[in-house]
Amino acid sequence: MEVFYNYLFHICPMFYRLKQHWKVNDLNLALILLTFAVGGSLCGYAGRKLLLITGLDKGPLWYLLYILLIIILWPACVILVSIFLGQFPFFKRYIQRIVNRFKGGSKPPDMVNIAILASGTGSNAQQIINHFKTSASGKVSLIVCNKPGAGVLDIARNEHIPFLLIDKECFFRGNHYLGELQQYNIGLIVLAGFLWKLPDALTRAYTQKIINIHPALLPKYGGKGMYGHFVHEAVIANHEKESGITIHYVDEQYDHGEIIFQASCPVEENDSPLTLAQKIHILEHVNYPAVIEKIIRNS
Ligand code: GAR
Repeated sequence: MEVFYNYLFHICPMFYRLKQHWKVNDLNLALILLTFAVGGSLCGYAGRKLLLITGLDKGPLWYLLYILLIIILWPACVILVSIFLGQFPFFKRYIQRIVNRFKGGSKPPDMVNIAILASGTGSNAQQIINHFKTSASGKVSLIVCNKPGAGVLDIARNEHIPFLLIDKECFFRGNHYLGELQQYNIGLIVLAGFLWKLPDALTRAYTQKIINIHPALLPKYGGKGMYGHFVHEAVIANHEKESGITIHYVDEQYDHGEIIFQASCPVEENDSPLTLAQKIHILEHVNYPAVIEKIIRNS
């Protein structure tokens, strides 16, 4: 199966681009293409059967009517087949867009291209990717990582999302990868466990367009060296009764920009850094994608 996917998405870039454009997974893409194929055949078959009723011989009029019937029947046949193949929601969205255009309604806003910057496992990145597969407002177009071997790179490969493995020298003293971000037309940068402080040139180029998630209730437990388990260890060592997550805009200082969203959870007597990290991850996975979606819609 993997060999098949490799062929489909690497040898035939058209399929890869369709998957990205339609924001569907491998199985859905295969079923959508099958829907078009079966719907097309069904409509040709139905058109010929209907023309039989007229008793017309094959000639210019027959062909003219056949073309007209195909034009009328084709959408109906595709929709019918999509119901059987479980792809109706995809076609419904498609039709809604076309109807909106005809109504002269406003053109749907362009998708915002999101770049996720991450250094670790990438569980937040995965949740964000999953969320934006079915969103009309944004799509994850690039993964940026500073650690060879980080789990988030496997996620990028599995999801067929382009990724950049960045180099310290180039990030801090070179072009800061601004060219690459522009090449992917990135409109929002999302930090999801990215452990390098961003260079000022990058925060200036993307003012109010970079957000970060921090695994504590800022302004407490933020700053240099405060990441991942170090945060949870400090929270427990200080016998805090609650911790939580903070989503905030990124500026030139560590964990400092304007706070957009916070959610909290209790810290129990018997919590360890590990169990607290698990609670925090749940809060992050539930809230981060939804907050990103809101930011894009309100911008
Ligand atoms: C997340 O808990 C995130 O809040 C934290 O790193 C983890 C990444 O997990 N970020 C920081 O500590 C930033 N100061 P993930 O790789 O499973 O998404």
